[in-house]
Amino acid sequence: MPGRSGPAHWVRAFHLCDVLVIGGGVIGLVTAWRAAQRGLRVSVADPAPGGGAARVAAGMLAAVTELYHGEERLLALNLASARRYPAFTAELEETTGLSTGYRACGTLAVALDADDREYLRQLHDLQLRCGLEPHWLTGRECRRLEPMLAPGVRGGLRVDGDHQTDPRRLAHALLTACEQAGVRFLRSAVVRAELSGDRMTGAVLADGTAVTAGQTVLAAGSRSGRLEGLPEDVLPPVRPVKGQILRLRVPPSYAPFLSRTVRAVVRGGHVYLVPRENGELVVGATSEELGWDTTVTAGGVYELLRDAHELVPGITELPLVETCAGLRPTSPDNGPLLGPTRLPGLLAATGHHRNGVLLAPLTGEVMAEALTTGELPEQVRPFSPRRFAAGSEAPVVLADPDPHAPQEQSV
Ligand code: GLY
Repeated sequence: MPGRSGPAHWVRAFHLCDVLVIGGGVIGLVTAWRAAQRGLRVSVADPAPGGGAARVAAGMLAAVTELYHGEERLLALNLASARRYPAFTAELEETTGLSTGYRACGTLAVALDADDREYLRQLHDLQLRCGLEPHWLTGRECRRLEPMLAPGVRGGLRVDGDHQTDPRRLAHALLTACEQAGVRFLRSAVVRAELSGDRMTGAVLADGTAVTAGQTVLAAGSRSGRLEGLPEDVLPPVRPVKGQILRLRVPPSYAPFLSRTVRAVVRGGHVYLVPRENGELVVGATSEELGWDTTVTAGGVYELLRDAHELVPGITELPLVETCAGLRPTSPDNGPLLGPTRLPGLLAATGHHRNGVLLAPLTGEVMAEALTTGELPEQVRPFSPRRFAAGSEAPVVLADPDPHAPQEQSV
C-alpha cells in the first residue's frame, strides 16, 4: 500500500479535521483562512508556519511587468488576483489589526541600453495586444518620476497597476487571521500521506500525530512534489527555482529614495528594487535552477548589486541589512496547480512560481470554493493539477488559442 512505505513512525496522538492543509506558507495560510471562514474545521501542518518562500519574496504584484509570451491565460488569472488585493488587504487588516504593507505605488520598468529597450518594446507590444495600458516614457520622463535613476536610462514603461505588499507582514497577518478563525496549527512536518483504498484520508506527522482529514490540501511550495505515500502520477510536478535577494535600508534623511518599484533587464537578467514605506529597499532576484540549494553566494550578491547599481547608482550608500535565498515552486508551464487532483480527498494549491504572493487572494477564494463545492470557477479550470496527469490532453494551457483575442479577466 503506497501509504505504508518508508520509515516506521510511532503514532503518538490522533487528530481529526475536515481539512488538513500541508504547508503554512502564504498559500497554505490563505487557503486555511478562507476555508475556516466557510465553517470547515481546518488544521495546518507545518513546523514553522508563516515561513516558506514568502520570507524571501519581494512582494511585487507584477501581473503586467512580469508578462511573458505564451502566458496570456496566466495573465488573466494574475490580473483577477491583483484586482482583489485592495479588498483582501482591507479585510485582513481590519480582522487582525495588523498592517500588511500593501502599497498602491505602481512600477516603472526601464531600459539601460539598446538591447534592453528592444526587450521593453516587445513587452510593450505584448501588453498592448493583451488589452493592457502601459505608458511608454522617454529616459527624461523616467528620471522625472524617479530622480535617483541612472542618467543613462533610455526609456521605460510606467505600469500604474503593478503594486506591492510586504510578504512577511502578510504571512503574519494571515497567521493571526487563521488563529482568530479557529484554524488549528500542528507544528510538525508531514512525513507521509495516508490512503485508504484509492482515497487520501490524512497524513502522519514527524511528532507521531496521525491526522484524519476529510480533505487534504497540498500547499507545501517547492516541496509539494516530494510527499511520501502518494502515487507517482498524483505528485505535483513542481521543482524549486532559487532566488537570491538583498534587503537594504534607506535612512530617513535619504527619503524619498524611490517612490515606486523600479525594475530593468540588465544583460538578460531581471533586477528590481522594491521600496517599502518603512524604509526597507528589497533588491531581487536571481533565478537559478540549482535544486534544493539555498546558499547565498558571492556571485549572486555581486550580480544583484552590480545590476542594481547600474540602475540606481545611489544604492551603494545604503546599509545592506540582509541577504537571503528562497525557492520558487515552479510547474512545467509556470502556472499554479489549483483544486482537486486525480486522487479523491487530495487537492493542490502549489506551483505558483513567481506569482505566489500576487495569487494569494484568488487562491484562497477558489480553494475554499473547491473545498466546499468540489468545483473550481470556470477561469481557474485550466490550472487544474489534472492537466499534468498521464493521458491528459496537452499540458500547456496558459496561452489563449488566439493571442490577439480580448482577455476574459474576471473570475
Ligand atoms: N516575482 C518576482 C520573482 O519571482 O523574483
